[in-house]
Amino acid sequence: SLLPVILCGGSGTRLWPLSRETYPKQFLALGGDGVSMLQDTVRRLDGVASHVPKEAPIVVCNHEHRFLAAQQLQEAGVEGARLILEPCGRNTAPALTLAALVADPQAILLAMPADHVITQAAQLHAAVETAWQLARDGAMVTFGIVADRPETGYGYIQKAQAVEGGHAFAIQSFAEKPSLEVAQAYVESGDYLWNSGLFMVQSSQWLKAMAALQPRMLRACQDAIAKCAQDMDFIRPHGDTFANCPADSIDYAVMEHLPGNPTLGIHARVVPLDAGWSDLGAWDALWDVLPHDAQGNAHTGQTLAIDTRDSLLFSETCLVATVGVDNLVVVETPDAILVADKRKTQDVKKIVAELKAQQ
Ligand code: GDD
Ligand code: MG
Repeated sequence: SLLPVILCGGSGTRLWPLSRETYPKQFLALGGDGVSMLQDTVRRLDGVASHVPKEAPIVVCNHEHRFLAAQQLQEAGVEGARLILEPCGRNTAPALTLAALVADPQAILLAMPADHVITQAAQLHAAVETAWQLARDGAMVTFGIVADRPETGYGYIQKAQAVEGGHAFAIQSFAEKPSLEVAQAYVESGDYLWNSGLFMVQSSQWLKAMAALQPRMLRACQDAIAKCAQDMDFIRPHGDTFANCPADSIDYAVMEHLPGNPTLGIHARVVPLDAGWSDLGAWDALWDVLPHDAQGNAHTGQTLAIDTRDSLLFSETCLVATVGVDNLVVVETPDAILVADKRKTQDVKKIVAELKAQQ
């Protein structure tokens, strides 16, 4: 059966001051509709064809967020979810490995980042149904987005021959977070898709890949699960053991190595995904997905924009008013205000780093 594994352990520093360590972005309702990104994510598979039987999800998050996660799942009407509580973050490869070790070896894992927007669920469902076949045949399946700009924060998937009657492709190579020059060349070539960050793979195949490519990481996760504590729906991997696990992402630790490694017996595949996907990484991406007024401004809360264009005005407690500006991001919260150039919002993480350094 299909087992959604919700990766929910990121810190979302580029969305400061809304996203905080105690309340990172995946738990926020950024669309202003009261539904958090985690809640959106867990409901996203509702409506997948019934020939793909679904299990209740496994949510992998930091132990500090266990009540927040559990409460949001309950509010979203999700029953039977298991929560794996990481004592510390070791990035996504260990997170998925913990889930694989808890799952049935036959289960088809669908790793889902908890901080993405997908506006067309039906398109996602079609892609998931295609991927399901491939993953049952033992493949590691990625979901590829048309790459229309040289974004350096993404993984790039080079397509090879078509499979599944043209609904999917083999993967020639996978490159995580290339330099700007390389990303430009990839986009111009037209051979590359962005990696959406969703992965589908049979649990036993993932563990086989980890055994071959990241044996130390696998061993640490195995030990942490062997010595885990369990109460209610919470699974707590052993703290010191997991802390000793090397940290790395699925992309660097495994995906980059699969295409050139046929002896592993795990085919890398990509299913194109055209579903209104967006990685809400920074404020400019949120501006992108929110509705705009006639001047291209996105508003949340109490705001007033005069002679203002292409800006994001976000207010939590008081009136935010602007005049005579463009491409600005203003975010007001009870204890911090951000004013940023919308074209520089990636650098908001520098504020967080500086604040941490001052602590
Ligand atoms: N449980 C857990 N533990 N989850 C984590 C951890 C961790 O230590 N670290 C990150 N996550 C979660 C994040 O919350 C997010 O939902 C997801 O895993 C992906 O992590 P990111 O840190 O956001 O990855 P990225 O955006 O740099 O890159 C990935 O996503 C891109 C698309 O958004 C890669 O897969 C890229 O190849 C891809 O293009
Ligand atoms: Mg991300």
